[in-house]
Amino acid sequence: MDTYSIRQKWETRTARNYGELDEIYKIEQSVSEHPWSWKDFCNNNNQRNCFYLVALHNKNIIGFLTYEIRGKLFFIRKVATKPDYRRRRVAACLVWKLMFDMNGRREAICTIVRESELSAQFLFKFLGFSAKHILHNHFQDTGEDGYIMEYHLPS
Ligand SMILES: CC(C)(COP(=O)(O)OP(=O)(O)OC[C@H]1O[C@@H](n2cnc3c(N)ncnc32)[C@H](O)[C@@H]1OP(=O)(O)O)[C@@H](O)C(=O)NCCC(=O)NCCS
Repeated sequence: MDTYSIRQKWETRTARNYGELDEIYKIEQSVSEHPWSWKDFCNNNNQRNCFYLVALHNKNIIGFLTYEIRGKLFFIRKVATKPDYRRRRVAACLVWKLMFDMNGRREAICTIVRESELSAQFLFKFLGFSAKHILHNHFQDTGEDGYIMEYHLPS
């Protein structure tokens, strides 16, 4: 049976993480329908309170999640799994890591999902998130609505 090890990554500014960040960037470019440009990616990395989780199999990165700490919230900015590993709970494990190992004093986990991102909507629904609000025309590139999805962490 495959085993996945999940570990929290450090802030992306540190040079020694470049290899893994580069890998994350490549995954993002290859799997996302709306990939971050290198500039978006660097802007994300330069923000304070921005972190990466990676999922590993045989020491290779097979998925990642990037999140920000916004006050009492974890805000998930991106989550992606390599195609060969889909539907094997890789993304779920990354979110569970936030829910169960790192919740600290945070009250909730929040994300904004595009209306076209059905897999992500199913994923967050599966994980117990509920859709709270619709942000009309939220995404500038396509004019799509965004669904704010939220999960309340136990206190
Ligand atoms: C969305 C995404 C991250 C899901 O990753 P994943 O590792 O395959 O998801 P999991 O295996 O952890 O899914 C857990 C559950 O979520 C639901 N789910 C996930 N993807 C689904 C899909 N494509 N269709 C239906 N349900 C899905 C299912 O209930 C699944 O459990 P099951 O397989 O036992 O039915 C992946 O499809 C992906 O990388 N997509 C491209 C990038 C993207 O759209 N990211 C989200 C926006 S940033």
